[in-house]
Amino acid sequence: MRILGIETSCDETAAAVVVDGCRVESSVISSSREIFAHAGGVIPEDAARRQMAFMIPVIHKALTSAGADIRQIDAIAVTHGPGLLGSLLVGTTAARTMASVHGLRMICVHHTFGHLTSPWLDAVDPLPKFPCITLSASGGHTDIWLRTSHTEGKLLGTTRDDAAGEAFDKGAALLGLPYPGGPSVAKTAESGDPHAFDFPMALRGEDTLDFSFSGIKTSLRYMLRDMTVPIADVLCDVAASYQHGICKQLADRVQKAIDAHPACKEVHLVGGVSANEHLRSLLTGLPIPVRTPAKLSYCTDNAAMIAAAGYFLHKEKPNEALSDRKTSASAPLSEAVSIVPPK
Ligand code: KG4
Ligand code: ZN
Repeated sequence: MRILGIETSCDETAAAVVVDGCRVESSVISSSREIFAHAGGVIPEDAARRQMAFMIPVIHKALTSAGADIRQIDAIAVTHGPGLLGSLLVGTTAARTMASVHGLRMICVHHTFGHLTSPWLDAVDPLPKFPCITLSASGGHTDIWLRTSHTEGKLLGTTRDDAAGEAFDKGAALLGLPYPGGPSVAKTAESGDPHAFDFPMALRGEDTLDFSFSGIKTSLRYMLRDMTVPIADVLCDVAASYQHGICKQLADRVQKAIDAHPACKEVHLVGGVSANEHLRSLLTGLPIPVRTPAKLSYCTDNAAMIAAAGYFLHKEKPNEALSDRKTSASAPLSEAVSIVPPK
């Protein structure tokens, strides 16, 4: 089944052609991030205008790079939420129009479900192994799952405040580093000492797999306020320690989830933060294999994961795949994926 995926939930305009949920024939991403690099974050109205300018050329490029004509496409999968409403509307309107003109099925995909599916893109071993533990960490969400199929799972923990990527972005802004904060903090941290400064782990005494990242950002703010040496002298050490503070919490929850669910066969790391090398290094030596998306461009927002998610939704929940969902800034994941919520 050849699916055209479309993703426009934030500042990336993306389209991709994927066969059977794993063979990526094309994946095109046009990002407007350079215009937001020094704004400290995305300006929603500007992002939507850029989406409008890029949408048609990006779809065109995805089809031509795949060597596919629209008549060889079996369905269109599109992110219907959550995200920035103006940006989402550009993608869903494009998908709806193409589906209507060409008589194609449109499959609405939840953005997070797209991330959960990203490890299968171009996977060397594309055979799903469930149950697995999935850590999904991006700029908008941080969740840890026990998944028993593509579309069934138990949410073991979620963030109580900021998302992990948001902590990177806000920390970068405090340190005067450009947006998005994850890559800029990681780059600055390369020559720093991750143990130079201590950022205590949140929710330490609690029996929980939830996350909390607002405290670490506040610690950084006070640390910078009270610093007696010029920040430039210690910037790399502060960035490395801050990165370590975020990543050690993520790694701690993965370890606890594995301990609590010894039957799991794999750990999956997905979402923008899964691109982080320090996080990956903290998770070496686990008793089960760790699967990350095959390319860094499949960690961050892309349309190939949306096409793949559309395929698995169609395979496992054909009725859900037929539902025409409302484009929504706060779409609940439970619309598409059967979730047992945390206690
Ligand atoms: O999944 P994604 O592209 O978009 C959302 O769904 O939010 O994730 C973007 C987030 C941003 O917060 C960005 O700072 C973070 O992922 N990120 C990283 C890295 N690359 C992107 N965080 C840590 N290390 C990275 N290398
Ligand atoms: Zn995302």
